[in-house]
Amino acid sequence: MREWTREERYRVLQNPEEIRPLYDKIRHSVYRQLYHVQPVTGLSSDPNGFALHHGLWHLCYQWCPWGAVHGLKYWYHVTSPDLIHWTNEGIGLAPDRDYDNKGNHSGSGISVGDELYFYYTGNHRDENWVRTPWTCAAYLDEQGKICKLDEPLFGPRPDHSEHQRDPKVVWNAEKGKYYIFIGAQTLDMRGCVLVYESEKPLTGWRFAGELKVPGYEHFGGMWECPYITRIGGRDLLIFSPQYTKLPGRGESTNHNVYFIGRMDYDTLTFTPEGGYHFLDYGFDFYAAQGAANVADPDKAILMGWIGLPDNHYPTEEEDWEGSMTIPRELRIRDGRLWQTPINGIEVLRERELAADGNLPEAGEITVDVPAGDFELNLYTHADGSGGMRLHYNSLTRTVTIDRRGMEKRFNQHVFEVLDVPMDEPLKSIRVFIDRSSTEFFLNEGEKTFTTHSYPIAAEHHYTVTDGANLRLWAYSRSVTDEFVV
Ligand code: FRU
Repeated sequence: MREWTREERYRVLQNPEEIRPLYDKIRHSVYRQLYHVQPVTGLSSDPNGFALHHGLWHLCYQWCPWGAVHGLKYWYHVTSPDLIHWTNEGIGLAPDRDYDNKGNHSGSGISVGDELYFYYTGNHRDENWVRTPWTCAAYLDEQGKICKLDEPLFGPRPDHSEHQRDPKVVWNAEKGKYYIFIGAQTLDMRGCVLVYESEKPLTGWRFAGELKVPGYEHFGGMWECPYITRIGGRDLLIFSPQYTKLPGRGESTNHNVYFIGRMDYDTLTFTPEGGYHFLDYGFDFYAAQGAANVADPDKAILMGWIGLPDNHYPTEEEDWEGSMTIPRELRIRDGRLWQTPINGIEVLRERELAADGNLPEAGEITVDVPAGDFELNLYTHADGSGGMRLHYNSLTRTVTIDRRGMEKRFNQHVFEVLDVPMDEPLKSIRVFIDRSSTEFFLNEGEKTFTTHSYPIAAEHHYTVTDGANLRLWAYSRSVTDEFVV
């Protein structure tokens, strides 16, 4: 793992040509994704500013141009007509003001009439490296460029720690107000969310209070990337609690959870119905964000970062890392969340392959699981050895995913084997494999499991329990990988 000095990590990009050699180096990597949004160079992390505006989906991601390191963060901008095909648009936000001199941190977007607004955290640090997080806004101009307002909307609360960031903006028609939810930490280091309100999107913001989530006053030390929406008349709250271990998550101290419940904007209380749930059970899933302006009131659309803040990945050797998940559709049924791959992704099925034990480098697998115990081993060698093993124990209704068998192992000290407790017997699996990621959708979206995976050339085979009906397709490319900065 390379050591970076602060100067190297926080170097400002003066000219795109400075990173062209990095791009030329990584573009031929065997791990570059074919249908997942990934960094043009360097590192991508959280999805940001995800919104539908005038028929086009806008997404930005946290981007550090210089390599696989969390340093100076930009927003890199991509667009899509259908959430499946993505085009590189270049830098969305650059740290070019005093108030964001050390990075444009995460945030959200919202389309209002003819305007598309973005809200982000301006990460300011002074010469003593003391941090001031500013809540800032920007808008999309007629040329499709993201332009900042001259001044931040508001500064941090002095009665909370320096960890106040990731503004999620929502419009509440009943109240006739916009709200901004900010991930935060109290002075005694408890995770929480701060709420601001205004009648207008760009002016008049005032502090409304701390969000109450009864029963969750002591749940991790910082709640990153809050997201709230209403689906089918129920409220959904998502955030990423940090600095705590949670049962079933190995040694990880970074998680992404959801609650279903009721949001009361009068009392600023989100009352969960039942406890927290993991949004995804995989090794590498974090900072998920839903899109704004989804017209259908019965669903949300969400993307996550395939990666975790403190973890390290094999492509760091190639000076890049990270990827977005495929977009997912979220629905609430029987008091829980169901997540399915974005509708229409089947257009990427270039051709169906014979189910003969060979895997394409990018594609989709569907399995009808027979009754009883079951096993699907992906990325094995030709003789069936090694690989990433999915095992289902029908007695305990547990899916276990074990990636210890793969040649390239990583984050061994955090976890390499995780369980997914199923509510229903396992009946179906849909897997999306790309060159460096694997996403499992179990039982039509009852549970999901996302992980990075870096098979070597010999690991493109699979084995499966006899009697399972398995089909697979090779996928075509759907993200451009052009050097646009
Ligand atoms: C989550 C996060 C956010 C922050 C951003 C910085 O991964 O830590 O809280 O805004 O990343 O890149």
